[in-house]
Amino acid sequence: MSHSPLVIAIDGPSGSGKSSVSRAVAARLGLAYLDTGATYRAATWWCLHEGIDLSDAAAVVAAVRAMPLAMGVDPGREVLEVGGADVRGDIRQTWISEAVSAVATNLEVRAELRRRQRETIDAERADGFSAGRGIVAEGRDITTVVAPDADVRILLTASEEARLARRARELHGEDGAEAVAATRDQVVRRDRDDATVSQFEVAADGVVTVDSSMLDLEGTIGAVLDVVTRRTAGR
Ligand code: DC
Repeated sequence: MSHSPLVIAIDGPSGSGKSSVSRAVAARLGLAYLDTGATYRAATWWCLHEGIDLSDAAAVVAAVRAMPLAMGVDPGREVLEVGGADVRGDIRQTWISEAVSAVATNLEVRAELRRRQRETIDAERADGFSAGRGIVAEGRDITTVVAPDADVRILLTASEEARLARRARELHGEDGAEAVAATRDQVVRRDRDDATVSQFEVAADGVVTVDSSMLDLEGTIGAVLDVVTRRTAGR
């Protein structure tokens, strides 16, 4: 592999495992890691913290444009602060998961967050945390809108059954019938809401699909690393 910066873009629906997989792939390849979903979650946290009514689109946009976000890109050390507050825990809570689509479906918010995401990717192409080695960027419109020019673009999918079982284990610590039913509404509704602004379940041209339904975390990381090796052969 040459030393030109490597940009890997990974898309996928919730529960496909894209965050854990992307972080691990970045760590193993010595690259930076960008979780774009966390920027939407942080923006939602900030709006609620500022007392913004999420149905007031103009107020949401103004708040997000002014959001003092500090986000680290070291895959081994998550840093996520808004206005100096550490929001790593809060952004994973249900009250954010339930509100985030209202913010993420606002097109002007998307333009602002995309601008910041591209800045982070460009910084890693130039120098940044990875010293110019590159970045793994993850999120629903990464392969198509934010980084369509990435060197490797992957759509990580999993059957609905597998995705629901994973989310149930995350949220409820088990994947019995009751836990899966409680999770179903949240996951299916969010994917439907998000699909109104970004299509992420069908691979665009040039995007390689990795199906993780039958793979555990280690198997999925291996499958993604295989795609990266194939796609970068001869670089
Ligand atoms: O991947 P996640 O669950 O952390 O994403 C949080 C929300 O942000 C979810 O509603 C999808 C949305 N999102 C998006 O619209 N575009 C992205 N690039 C990343 C996330």
